Amino acid sequence: MTRARGPMSGEKGAVRRIRLAFGAAVLGAVGFAVTYSLGGNTQLLGVSLGLAFAGLAYGLAAWGRRLLPTGGYVEQKPGLSAPPRRRDLLAEAMDGPESPLGRRGLVGMLLLGAGSIGVALLFPLRSLLSFRRPDPVTMLRHTAWQAGTRLVTPEGTPVRLTDIGGETIQIVVPEGHIGDGDTPAFVVRLDPERLRQEPGAGRVGDVVAYSLLCTHAGCPVALYEQTTARMLCPCHQSTFDLNRDAAPIAGPAARPLPGLPIEVGTDGYLRARGDFTAPPGAGFWSYP
Ligand code: FES
Repeated sequence: MTRARGPMSGEKGAVRRIRLAFGAAVLGAVGFAVTYSLGGNTQLLGVSLGLAFAGLAYGLAAWGRRLLPTGGYVEQKPGLSAPPRRRDLLAEAMDGPESPLGRRGLVGMLLLGAGSIGVALLFPLRSLLSFRRPDPVTMLRHTAWQAGTRLVTPEGTPVRLTDIGGETIQIVVPEGHIGDGDTPAFVVRLDPERLRQEPGAGRVGDVVAYSLLCTHAGCPVALYEQTTARMLCPCHQSTFDLNRDAAPIAGPAARPLPGLPIEVGTDGYLRARGDFTAPPGAGFWSYP
């Protein structure tokens, strides 16, 4: 024998599912806020925000479909105002525990879920409030080279003046910042007799240091021609004359390679006396 299903049958299950959906929305919103605070893994942010909105959407849809009255209703309206008795009954029904709008705390869960998403979406606004962060343009204009920073090879070995020969260049980076993309430089020994222009960053004896990054588009200018003391960029063939303070003499680069002021420290190792004489790399930074 099958049991007759009344109009309210299955309602408990629907209410449970709607609660779960709103709970999932809260979880997703909290997950989004926490993930964003911890650094913002993009995939996790997407999953948590998706969970929050999906939970909210499912809860609302199920609520409307399963709990709110459906179908067409025709009511004869004798007048604009219902009799007092009917108004009392309606108010009682809407406020009571079986009200389709307020039943079993669903309104509270809905507000909690939607409110959580609203609060979670405030977190990304933090990135707009960057009062205490350094200006990004200022950050890009400076590198990790500072007065006293030792010059080390890309493998981390400190460099002495006597390590520098005239046949080829020695690539150097600031000690402790080996991976910084804007800091690579090179040191090389020049023939002082052939210098046509003193290096703006100075020199230690006949050893000079310049940024390794081409001022055209930032490629490493790693091809050195000793006989002419020229550095060639393999990307678009810009050529820099080290005897003229690394001035560009061919190719699309318009700025000289920025010089790196160096000195010999009391321990005998080469050290920087400060940052590059100009922002290293692409020519964008030479624009006013
Ligand atoms: S990046 Fe060096 S010439 Fe273009």
